[in-house]
Amino acid sequence: MPTSSIPVITIDGPTASGKGTVAQRVAQHLGFHYLDSGALYRLTALSALRSGTALNDEHALAKLAGALPCTFVGEKILLANENVTEAIRAEEVGNTASKIAMLPTLRQALYGLQLRFRMAPGLVADGRDMGTVIFPHAPLKVFLTASVAARAQRRYKQLIGKGFSANMEDLLKDLTERDARDANRSIAPLKPAEGAYLLDTSDMTADQAVEQVLAWYASVKKLA
Ligand code: C5P
Repeated sequence: MPTSSIPVITIDGPTASGKGTVAQRVAQHLGFHYLDSGALYRLTALSALRSGTALNDEHALAKLAGALPCTFVGEKILLANENVTEAIRAEEVGNTASKIAMLPTLRQALYGLQLRFRMAPGLVADGRDMGTVIFPHAPLKVFLTASVAARAQRRYKQLIGKGFSANMEDLLKDLTERDARDANRSIAPLKPAEGAYLLDTSDMTADQAVEQVLAWYASVKKLA
């Protein structure tokens, strides 16, 4: 099958909108591969923090991103064979990721790596620019949102569940700041792709959101 005909479902949306959970379950249901593009920005951020790379050194950061020794094994994420699945979820890493994600050379360095996740029988890709920049011709593009309050609540539960400490007030502030940075940056800003289906999950369970995405996919497949 030529790569261009391998189906892709893009799921973009703001921080803690639930897109990771929804994307993973949709991929599982369809037997598709899964790309967590945010993890690539987080891995670059973790590498930068650990190596003491200055967060304004675009060239050095792009070099780190272009040579990330990362492996995805099921739900595990390895960086140079170290299991960093939990470490990259820390708020400091997420905040650093959102700062360095503004750098065009770094985004370019991650471009090819993301395209390589498109493998048969299909891919579900989650992030901020999956539908706008990386896979603009995907047959199904979804933009997932939820209110700031619902997202802060979800992130709180997620962090506590992973054994991190969390404070609701700080989380609300972080989310609002990160949203503003992601939506207002000049390169690949967070916005719905052309033709994207919008899904507000504030009052939905993850299962309901998954069902909706699968129903949309079934209908676009029928039209193809
Ligand atoms: O989705 P996640 O919270 O893991 O992403 C971490 C950060 O990486 C985001 O705040 C965003 O700035 C950046 N990111 C991005 N483009 C993507 C995925 C993530 O800029 N496709």
